[in-house]
Amino acid sequence: MHKPRLTLGIETSCDETAAAVYQEKKGILSNVLFSQINIHKDFGGVIPELASRSQLEKIGSIVQSALKHAECSFTEIDIVAVTNRPGLPGSLLVGVCFAKAIAWAAKKKLIGINHLEGHAFSSFLEHKVPFPHLCLTASGGHTSLYLIKEFGEYEILGETQDDAAGEAFDKIAKLMDLPYPGGPVIEQLAATTHFKDFFQYPRHKSKTLDFSFSGLKTAILYDLVNKNAYNMKLKKFLKKDDELLKKQVASSLLVCIADIFEQKLARAIMQYPHIKAITFVGGVAANNYITNRLHAFSKKHGLLFFTPSRQYCTDNAAMIAFVGNYKASQGKFSSWNLDIFSTE
Ligand code: KG4
Ligand code: ZN
Repeated sequence: MHKPRLTLGIETSCDETAAAVYQEKKGILSNVLFSQINIHKDFGGVIPELASRSQLEKIGSIVQSALKHAECSFTEIDIVAVTNRPGLPGSLLVGVCFAKAIAWAAKKKLIGINHLEGHAFSSFLEHKVPFPHLCLTASGGHTSLYLIKEFGEYEILGETQDDAAGEAFDKIAKLMDLPYPGGPVIEQLAATTHFKDFFQYPRHKSKTLDFSFSGLKTAILYDLVNKNAYNMKLKKFLKKDDELLKKQVASSLLVCIADIFEQKLARAIMQYPHIKAITFVGGVAANNYITNRLHAFSKKHGLLFFTPSRQYCTDNAAMIAFVGNYKASQGKFSSWNLDIFSTE
């Protein structure tokens, strides 16, 4: 009998060092991660040089820990799947060089994975999602809508023309002197005012399925200037202690972004009426308010709704190992010339 395929996934595209083991029959056996949030927190964003140095320091022990938690040795692994695009070049290089070295030395097959394909299929780690479906991916670097037809077969229907949704949360949080990453803090503040839409920020109403969030950021900035809460010349938030204002901005922002997501999904459903489900993935999908809104929206339209649990919404190697497993079953392996790409 054929021994179930074992895939080691490695993810180092940004500020997390992650490794996971996926078994063809049993699914995820381990999922280990080191987050660099504490390294970058004080800068309000990721510093690429610090990110790659930390990747280098952690990669060996994180991979060993993933194997240990999966109770397997590296000799039992069949495939090494590694994120090779898109991401920070220095961070990607650490993962790809490490993966190539161990795979070559131990004669394993190597597969380069697109990080966004990992997110797009992350719902499958815990759910059986029917094809075809729509997938809304919202992370710190990307906001895209896909039509997913089969494993590895997808079409991009729309993407952000400027900032990503997560980036909007991060930048607006920074504007109000709130810590990085902005999404979780904004959600906590918004919950205290029961997600009311105080300031009705503009919803971008284009006829396409593309997104745009930089206008929203500017609208909030000017609204804060008008409220004498922000000084443009000094680039300074003047109401450090005004907790109520921060809560109202956070709540209005969250409702606005959920509305924009619903608008785009409604448009996509009209164009692709044969879809069976909606999935919501990426770091922003860790947001309970938006997830609940999109769940209710899907139900209203007679569609199934799936979102990964929090650990698989934000960056992780389980989704990379999962994609590596189906690519292996399709015979899609990479050569030893596998390179990294900062863009998609
Ligand atoms: O997918 P991810 O971990 O990394 C990227 O590939 O970018 O996403 C990180 C993003 C950050 O912008 C962060 O603010 C956002 O996800 N995020 C959230 C929440 N948790 C993380 N946004 C909204 N609500 C949350 N609870
Ligand atoms: Zn990501």
